[in-house]
Amino acid sequence: MAGPQRTPADEAREAVVESALGKLDVDTKTRLLAGQDMWSLPALPEIGLDSLVMSDGPIGVRGVRWSADDPSVALPSPTALAATWDPELARRAGVLLAQEARRKGVHVLLAPTVNLHRSPLGGRHFEAYSEDPYLTGRIGTGYVQGVQSGGVGTTVKHFVANDAETDRFTVDNRVSERALRELYLAPFEAIVENAHPWGIMTAYNTVNGTTMTEHHYLVNEVLRGEWGFDGCNVSDWFAARDTVGALQGGLDVAMPGPRTVFGEALAQAVRDGKVTEAAVDDAVRRVLRLAARTGALAGAEPAVTELPGAVDGEALAREIARRSFVLVRNDSAALPLKPGRTVALIGAAARDARVLGGGSATVFPARIVSPLDGLTAALPEGAVRYAVGADPATELAVADQGFTLRAVCRDANGEVIGTASAPNGQIQWLGSDLPDGVTRETLHSVELTGVFTPRESGPHTFGIRGTGGFTLRVAGTTYFDGVQPPAGDSDPFEAFFGTPVERAQAELTAGEPVEVSLTHLVERQEAAPLSAVLFALAHQAPRRDPDELIAEAVEAARAADTAVVVVATTERVESEGFDRKDLALPGRQDDLVRAVAEANPHTVVVVNSGSPVELPWREEVAAVLLSWFPGQEGGAALADVLTGAYEPGGRLPTTWGSLQDAPVTRVVPTEGRLDYDEDVFIGYRAWEKEGRTPAYPFGHGLGYTDWTYESAETDGTTVTVRVRNTGTRAGREVVQLYLAPTEPGAGRPARWLAGFAGVEAGPGEVAEAVVELPRRAFEIWDETTNSWSFVKGSYEIQAGRSIADRRIAVTINV
Ligand code: BGC
Repeated sequence: MAGPQRTPADEAREAVVESALGKLDVDTKTRLLAGQDMWSLPALPEIGLDSLVMSDGPIGVRGVRWSADDPSVALPSPTALAATWDPELARRAGVLLAQEARRKGVHVLLAPTVNLHRSPLGGRHFEAYSEDPYLTGRIGTGYVQGVQSGGVGTTVKHFVANDAETDRFTVDNRVSERALRELYLAPFEAIVENAHPWGIMTAYNTVNGTTMTEHHYLVNEVLRGEWGFDGCNVSDWFAARDTVGALQGGLDVAMPGPRTVFGEALAQAVRDGKVTEAAVDDAVRRVLRLAARTGALAGAEPAVTELPGAVDGEALAREIARRSFVLVRNDSAALPLKPGRTVALIGAAARDARVLGGGSATVFPARIVSPLDGLTAALPEGAVRYAVGADPATELAVADQGFTLRAVCRDANGEVIGTASAPNGQIQWLGSDLPDGVTRETLHSVELTGVFTPRESGPHTFGIRGTGGFTLRVAGTTYFDGVQPPAGDSDPFEAFFGTPVERAQAELTAGEPVEVSLTHLVERQEAAPLSAVLFALAHQAPRRDPDELIAEAVEAARAADTAVVVVATTERVESEGFDRKDLALPGRQDDLVRAVAEANPHTVVVVNSGSPVELPWREEVAAVLLSWFPGQEGGAALADVLTGAYEPGGRLPTTWGSLQDAPVTRVVPTEGRLDYDEDVFIGYRAWEKEGRTPAYPFGHGLGYTDWTYESAETDGTTVTVRVRNTGTRAGREVVQLYLAPTEPGAGRPARWLAGFAGVEAGPGEVAEAVVELPRRAFEIWDETTNSWSFVKGSYEIQAGRSIADRRIAVTINV
């Protein structure tokens, strides 16, 4: 068995774990393996064990409440973090997240997501890092090291092959052993080896016929046996379905609670002789180890006794954002903007910034800097003129712009028993997460109430998301008083992600506040696995004539020196719980860009999306900057980069191309099965195999200076590449190494990423990138021997700026 050597401190911790374990009876042990509520495990005061608290997620730490009352720093999306190609920056992000977790009493962060970008249609693409397993593993390693250096655990997720959302609870992903090993398992393996995560999260989906929460082979044999993982295996939320199957398949903790397949059901299984107590002990040992490491078990020294210094969250969010922005096109050095010029800033997302993706990764930051805020602050007064241009929200969206709402809880007599904030008009109270003073027993109704101040005059549409009894009142008129039936979806999170139903249209006047109230009758949910209060008020502003909006934007663009158009996806396009249907920008945004570009040759387009979108006009504009979901400081970072205070530092972690050209796209199973029949050819491996040219290749990204590649040398294990900054300002280059077998043979990609390093140099200066070649880069998984096989032969090590822009090569025979 592989795995880290145990230190004396580890041994001492294990001794405390063993002694605590020895004091527990079977009922208590099995109780510890089941969530007591949405986010935590029970405390066991008799052994000095605190309640272990877990929380999402990748870009921030929400804490145990779905509420804006205790805000969280919101970092850029995981795709953005990967675009920095900087494991050290990922580590620093992790340190900040540990700080946030500790502040919120969280022991374990439900992150990072290291599934792969198999199809660009994957709904949670924004939440994963890359199409490349090596880059994913490096970024994930940095992230886990950072979080755990702050004494907080991670659950690397979702183990494994949870690469799309359609039918995620039931889909059987059929993946060859080789593709599993070389692609989908590879980031998990690298992170286990290099960062020793304290936890892992097993996925909803099935792999090759066995659901992942019961996958004895992948969990017990591969993850634990071969790789030496000694952490805790937590189920994805509601993923565990069978008491005996889950325990035997290596699951330690079934989340959330209180009704799970573990707990009492597991105690009964022990008594019935269906599972052994020793197997339960193994799981409990791993939970206690996790607790001991995070400092939640009295008498055990936590894994981290000296915490890292305090991190400035806002500054780090801004730094990561500008380092992640990928400048994919910069014709005639359109960027940075020349000083003293005026800017027409166009786009709904320029004002109402979309800073994070939807679903469980959602957090509520204390502030959001929009592109309009950021540019207005950075440029001289009067230099920025704003126009909406096009509205990407073609459907009802959450009630956030112009609403001040709070939730009022009442008992059956109509007495107020508690109140809470209601971020974005959404109520998401799960399990015991209820406002202070409110209990399941006393709660009868929740009223979302407050004021809405419209920005535009005209007919405003209001809608309701959720099921059950509702009353909707706007400006004194009752528009709906009835029952909204379920949409019939099997995903228990449908109420989070479902489509709102239109219920009212009210004629309102810009600037004139009106009262809004949505009351929901809370039903008893005896049979449900978790009681929940889930509903939302949705809203859509009056639809202005789209042609008129574009005409206004064109006029603004004509009057300015430069036009900056921010195009974006919406919450209905990129989120958890569903996949995308296409890669087009929603609404009339493509028409908008074309019209603006025609009116102003200095048109810069900022693409505010977490994952690839089609940019059919990309050759018609001066510059294209991908800003991902840039986190709470996105607008400030955008100003940093547009004005040239900093160069954009990102390189594509994933190929950007059209859906029509993309070689691997399927996310919809047939009769419950999704065959990964492209095998090891996903991402750039597939684009190259098919001989197709994407819009922008993997690894691509421009800075504000230029580089020549002067030499490349290798001693067989290390490659040294000398690059010269030939531009006029200092910059950072990501030197990428691709390994290309001289004779690839049928089953191998033409080349693959084998290493990379970021270097910095001033104008005219030379920098040296020293990159170690991992042995694994030369290995393939041999399905006949079921082991790694080192493929001898001649390889070119190609160093360059992207997979398509290879500048220099050195040959090596191994
Ligand atoms: C997601 C997980 C998340 C969990 C808890 C699930 O729906 O798949 O990534 O950690 O919910 O919010």
